[in-house]
Amino acid sequence: MQARSRALAADGKRIGIVPTMGFLHEGHISLIKRAKKLSDVVITTIFVNPAQFAPHEDLDKYPRDEKGDIAKIKKVGGDIVFIPNAADMYPANYQTYIDVENLSKSLEGAIRPGHFRGVTTIVAKMFNITRPDIAVFGMKDYQQGMVIRQMVKDLDYPIRIIIAPTVREKDGLAMSSRNKYFTPAQRKEAVCLYASLAVARNMVKVEKVKKVSAIRKEMVDVIKDICPMAEIDYIAFTDYKTLAPVKIIDNTCICSLAVRVHGVRLIDNMRL
Ligand code: PAJ
Repeated sequence: MQARSRALAADGKRIGIVPTMGFLHEGHISLIKRAKKLSDVVITTIFVNPAQFAPHEDLDKYPRDEKGDIAKIKKVGGDIVFIPNAADMYPANYQTYIDVENLSKSLEGAIRPGHFRGVTTIVAKMFNITRPDIAVFGMKDYQQGMVIRQMVKDLDYPIRIIIAPTVREKDGLAMSSRNKYFTPAQRKEAVCLYASLAVARNMVKVEKVKKVSAIRKEMVDVIKDICPMAEIDYIAFTDYKTLAPVKIIDNTCICSLAVRVHGVRLIDNMRL
């Protein structure tokens, strides 16, 4: 892959990369389409990265469909699919990790210690292997995008990071490979994240509510109404760029939340 990328670059080709863990849905496909617009050759990587899963998380049952993924990538005009195996990416005696110290600590990082260390390490490795000019990530994992932007800045990667909009199902649920874990009845309740964000946005934009505490309370009610069993990991209101918590909403604010719906951990976010 490294030799191929160097040859492409030597040939003057602009390389775009879309890193994924596979089991591709329309959200992933939208990133490939975006990368195609901005580059000559699009490399999609598929790797379920053990370093970003904690021992109790769903690494072993994470859904896989290599054949289906390759067909989808071909159909949308993706040029190269890179599917390394874990023994090649992390051989015995592997020792080097990348840690973006501050941005990785809050929100997802607080609940999933070590998660972003795994993400930045694998993304750096993918960058080193493919040497892209641009890389496209999804807004659904907004903190991940910000952490990667910081890494690229700090480590002087000559790569433009694009963060593309979240693709949603008809009812608003953000597309996710993990949605496949739901039964049809549970799936209906999974809309509670989006529904609570929509209510929050309405409170800010229409009712002109500015106090985070009032909005959070309303969001919890919406979530519990739709999914009484929901376990809320966090509902956070932060500055879009720094991820610092805010108490009063202004136009730099984003609301992110993580909720366990029937045991499946979902995340979503919205600019307010
Ligand atoms: P994965 O969850 O497979 O997601 C791959 C990319 O697709 C990420 O950039 C993610 O933000 C984006 N994505 C997921 N759902 C989306 C949606 N509904 N709309 C738009 N984009 C969406 O995120 C990872 O993999 C991994 O952490 C990875 C970056 C590959 C490192 O292992």
